[in-house]
Amino acid sequence: MLFDLLPKTKKKDLFGVDYAFQTLVDAISDDSTRMVIIKGLRRVGKTSLMNVALNEIPFDGVNIDVRESPYYDQQRFFSYLVEKIRRKVSEPIISQILKKISGVGISYKDISAQLFFSKHENFQFFFENLNKQLLKNDKKIVLAFDEVQLLKEIKFDYILASIFDNYPQIRLVLTGSEIGLLEKFIGKSNYDSPLYGRAYLEIELKRMVPEATEKFLEQGFAQINKKISFGEVRDVVEHLDGIIGWITHYGWLRHEGTLHEEALEKVKREGQELVKREIKQFLNKRKAKLKYLLLLKFLANGNNTWTELKYNFVKEDKKITDNQLNFYLKELLDYGFIEKISEKYYLSDPILLLVAKR
Ligand SMILES: Nc1ncnc2c1ncn2[C@@H]1O[C@H](COP(=O)(O)OP(=O)(O)OP(=O)(O)O)[C@@H](O)[C@H]1O
Ligand SMILES: [Mg+2]
Repeated sequence: MLFDLLPKTKKKDLFGVDYAFQTLVDAISDDSTRMVIIKGLRRVGKTSLMNVALNEIPFDGVNIDVRESPYYDQQRFFSYLVEKIRRKVSEPIISQILKKISGVGISYKDISAQLFFSKHENFQFFFENLNKQLLKNDKKIVLAFDEVQLLKEIKFDYILASIFDNYPQIRLVLTGSEIGLLEKFIGKSNYDSPLYGRAYLEIELKRMVPEATEKFLEQGFAQINKKISFGEVRDVVEHLDGIIGWITHYGWLRHEGTLHEEALEKVKREGQELVKREIKQFLNKRKAKLKYLLLLKFLANGNNTWTELKYNFVKEDKKITDNQLNFYLKELLDYGFIEKISEKYYLSDPILLLVAKR
């Protein structure tokens, strides 16, 4: 069902991204592409696209939601990942690999994975031999990481660079909701990043244009045997700005029987709680909390140029240097709270706009 709240997993539930979907599936299947990045602002459907593609490709895909993994600890993450791969790749391949690595004929079940992968070399060996076995069996495997930027802390970008460089039977799909951090992770214009300079295909998801939102609502309502009026569609387009995550939420509420006005209010109310939590989390690690909040407020009030923003700080008698302002803007861009379009800055989300105005 189109209005299901969980990220989609089936092609029939994926609306309006046929082109992106086909591009992704073709790229994964194509031998000249080793890595694909799915980028886009928050709640535009990156995870859904990735999930569905993994289910549709003709070879094994391992889906790793990094948030659910022990991403803060390298060794624990290694064994988590190997376990995930083990579940997908057939048992003979895995025991072949482990035989090679250990030099003795023990099976995976006999060894404590945690202990085994506490050695970095063992982990490298694992991939080397996985690649060999896959090649021998004429197979490929796709490792898809959602919220991959979280793996920066444990330097997993080095491992991915080495997989990219050395093991062509292993393909990578990466995505994440903090767009600038994702770009940093893959080394976009960042020479110091281990993944810098690797060729990858980029797929960008955007907000829906009003016509697409109308169609999405129309199809979604047809599925739930309900009708939506012209005025209601117009409200949704106006208030939720083509962000499929919010619009799905609205559709779900209507499916549950909530009336239009109340459904729209509820999406805004609950959405604001969620966005507030995201901002709080972002501010937690930062000293200049107040400055960030002011910046968001100025943006919400329609100050979009650098000069206007700077002027507003001066007007409110809050000291801020040019460098600081640049840095704060960069941080907000990195985390996907704002976007920059022809030298102007905008809040990236209509619900964030409501939060920032407060
Ligand atoms: N193409 C689509 N068709 C139908 N529903 C979708 C589509 N894309 C996303 N959705 C719905 O929108 C919501 C957000 O989707 P999803 O989690 O895939 O987005 P995301 O970009 O990964 O979000 P985040 O930035 O928070 O990680 C979910 O309820 C999902 O079911
Ligand atoms: Mg996601």
